[in-house]
Amino acid sequence: FPKLFQPKKKDDCIVIAHRGASAYYPENTMAAFRGAVAMNSDMIELDVMLSSDGVPVVFHDARLEEHTTGRGLLTDYSLPALRALDAGSWFGSPFAGSRIPTLEEVLEFASDTIALNIEIKTEAVSKQQGGVEEKCLELVEAHGMKEHVLFSSFDYRAVTHLKTLDPAVPVALLYNRSLSNGKMPSNLVATYRADAFNCSYREFTKKWRKNIREHKIPHFVYTVDRPRQMRKLLAAGVDGIFTNKPDLLQSVAAQW
Ligand code: G3P
Ligand code: CA
Repeated sequence: FPKLFQPKKKDDCIVIAHRGASAYYPENTMAAFRGAVAMNSDMIELDVMLSSDGVPVVFHDARLEEHTTGRGLLTDYSLPALRALDAGSWFGSPFAGSRIPTLEEVLEFASDTIALNIEIKTEAVSKQQGGVEEKCLELVEAHGMKEHVLFSSFDYRAVTHLKTLDPAVPVALLYNRSLSNGKMPSNLVATYRADAFNCSYREFTKKWRKNIREHKIPHFVYTVDRPRQMRKLLAAGVDGIFTNKPDLLQSVAAQW
């Protein structure tokens, strides 16, 4: 598996801060990413969408209402229009004025500091002539982060497209039931040329665990904020856990 930043825990399960330390800060903002670093996370997960003028920006939802002062679809907004929105006050007044980051801004911050899991959202993949995969890859290379990034997507087109552009770039397939026809993880990663398999802890069955172990597939499981569930996954030997509470996962893993 391609080299990522070394996990800080001796048991090799990496702590992935989901949308940053998003239990404590507004998700997918620089505050959440700084919090993730302060909490000793091994990796930050973030979501990438494309603005109407084709810039990769960091945001999870298709629509703006819930997590910003904007209205409607993110993809209808240009970068300057998105940057004018407040992406923090929904979480609490201390975060008022937080902006939607660009991917470039996050790569600048992360470079030499922390590994990133860049999830490409299907809205960005579907955008006509969007070229989101090329754009992200170019930015990652420009910041010297190729060995410290794991791409992922629920959209299997993006998984294969990234591997076609650069077979050396690490890409995880995010399990998507409607695209999978009941296939096993080993079959899916081979079909779509992925390096790793990511799924929800709810989908992580015994049958899959056996298949993943037999085929030695790197795997990362999301999104786990309860100690009992964290301990179960540590016992199962997963390669990484996504959590909104990286401090909690660090302390559970330390006592493990
Ligand atoms: O990549 C793990 C997880 O982030 C996938 O689900 O909806 O939080 O992007 P979602
Ligand atoms: Ca995500």
